[in-house]
Amino acid sequence: MKRIAIFLSGRGSNAEALIAACRTGEIDGEVVLVTGDNPTAPGLAKARAYGIRTEEADPRQFASKVDYESHLLRLLSEAGTDLICLAGYMRLVGPLLLGAYRRRILNIHPSLLPSFPGLHAQEQALAAGVKVSGCTVHFIDSGMDTGPIVAQTAVPVADDDTADTLSARILQAEHPTYVRAVAAYCRGDLRWEDGRVLGAGQEGI
Ligand code: GRF
Repeated sequence: MKRIAIFLSGRGSNAEALIAACRTGEIDGEVVLVTGDNPTAPGLAKARAYGIRTEEADPRQFASKVDYESHLLRLLSEAGTDLICLAGYMRLVGPLLLGAYRRRILNIHPSLLPSFPGLHAQEQALAAGVKVSGCTVHFIDSGMDTGPIVAQTAVPVADDDTADTLSARILQAEHPTYVRAVAAYCRGDLRWEDGRVLGAGQEGI
């Protein structure tokens, strides 16, 4: 059974989906730590309500990013972490954590990458006039939303969508997509071929 740490900055609905799926056994894993860069993130309180260890880590209280990430690294080691899931974590992960958890940090993003990386992906999709968007789970690298793709789900874009309605529709797809990707990781089903990640696939087409 894999030991999973979640990093978040806000609401925590993806975190909650992962926690719930571990509890039902859909994911053969256990969420052993929830942390993040925002001490007042509602997601921390949600995790606490499940009885999961949470740690507030405010980057402003550290002299440098390396110091902040060293602190996170200690927490991760203490918890015996196998896999890190970023779930609305609004910060780029630096070389220290990337090196320590190579090919073991997943992220979820609310677009079909490589389209619309970065902030406000749903607004970007509306501005581009795309008729299909969705969500992507990917391993991270040093870039912004650029690492190898693990799983995607497509979602239709309606003519009268606003950023809010499209975000809500994509979020509904995010939860099962993240669960599917993490479940595949924990089963050992993901395989790497020529820089691509195979074994978890796509849905919604
Ligand atoms: C999600 O849309 C996720 O794709 C993005 O940030 C949002 C986090 O939502 N990275 P939540 O905190 O999981 O509810």
